[in-house]
Amino acid sequence: MTRQPLAATEIASIADARGFWSRDLVSIRDLSPGEVDAIFDLTALIKARPVDFRTALSGRQLVLFFEKPSLRTRLTFEAGMASLGGVSFFVDQTGERIDAREKLSDIAHNLERWIDIIVLRTFAHATVEKMAEYASVPVINALSELEHPCQALADYFTLRERFGKLQDLTLAFVGDGNNVLHSLLLTCASLGSSIRIATPPSYGPDCDIVAQAREIARQTGATIELFTDPREAVSGADAVYTDTWTSMGHEREAKQRAMVFAPYQVNRELMVESALHAVFMHCLPAHRGEEVSDAVIDSTQSIVFDQAENRLHVQKAILLLLLGGGMGRLPIRSVHA
Ligand code: CP
Ligand code: NVA
Repeated sequence: MTRQPLAATEIASIADARGFWSRDLVSIRDLSPGEVDAIFDLTALIKARPVDFRTALSGRQLVLFFEKPSLRTRLTFEAGMASLGGVSFFVDQTGERIDAREKLSDIAHNLERWIDIIVLRTFAHATVEKMAEYASVPVINALSELEHPCQALADYFTLRERFGKLQDLTLAFVGDGNNVLHSLLLTCASLGSSIRIATPPSYGPDCDIVAQAREIARQTGATIELFTDPREAVSGADAVYTDTWTSMGHEREAKQRAMVFAPYQVNRELMVESALHAVFMHCLPAHRGEEVSDAVIDSTQSIVFDQAENRLHVQKAILLLLLGGGMGRLPIRSVHA
């Protein structure tokens, strides 16, 4: 039996009914637990039936301002927007901060007159928060010093594809208490899943993020455990995740960090502690021989390229949801005194 393609109105109502229209995605905290599942359900549909969505955002325009380099995030937003029928514009901000030339609020009030959705990669998390406050169109955090929400959503979507039920899953994160970990922690809490984190003392996750994740966990039944011993965290885990020891913006600490984090390398000896069926995860770019050995990242346990692929599908779902399915409702243009 031939399947009927989804009509534009059906796509719009699927996206619009979820109640995301015109909102921002600055932090995973912007999403209720049920909304994370709604993103995953739409992602699965888009991934299975990409052709049905190829004109969904026709006529819509996205701008990316990036203060830091990127391969995956930039290209998955650009390719994702194109595959939904929209267009994107990239502004390279690696030479100076976004607000170096003019006030951020002035930039926001320009952008909202021309552009439907804004994607920012910044040093300061406050830059994304303020852009979201000033601009009347949706703003997406494409990585700040505090969070990387699109990454964590793609990662947990990848785990859902692999394992099905996330409530019974334990993810072990080994390494730096950084932006990627913060978003994973909050997503885990929302999903009622389990996370075991091993960081060196003084390199743990942000206390406010941990407190907020624990608060969400009280409602969802999630389990959050913090360790300093990587073996304890990895013991019996279904997935082992690591990220760079030195995030962008901390390059001057790289030498010191290489010494502190050496016992936290994810290698074969550490992976042996995880469950037999365990997968290895990394947001990439990987620093082979530092946070992960070649033997692990190149092994059959590694799902790093599934994660990278799912950045595309998850972000397409996010774009569609924040733009109300692309139908009818045009962004409200703000009026300024
Ligand atoms: N994982 C990730 O965000 O990669 P990029 O820095 O290449 O965008
Ligand atoms: N924690 C890393 C993630 C890169 C995708 C960084 O911020 O540099």
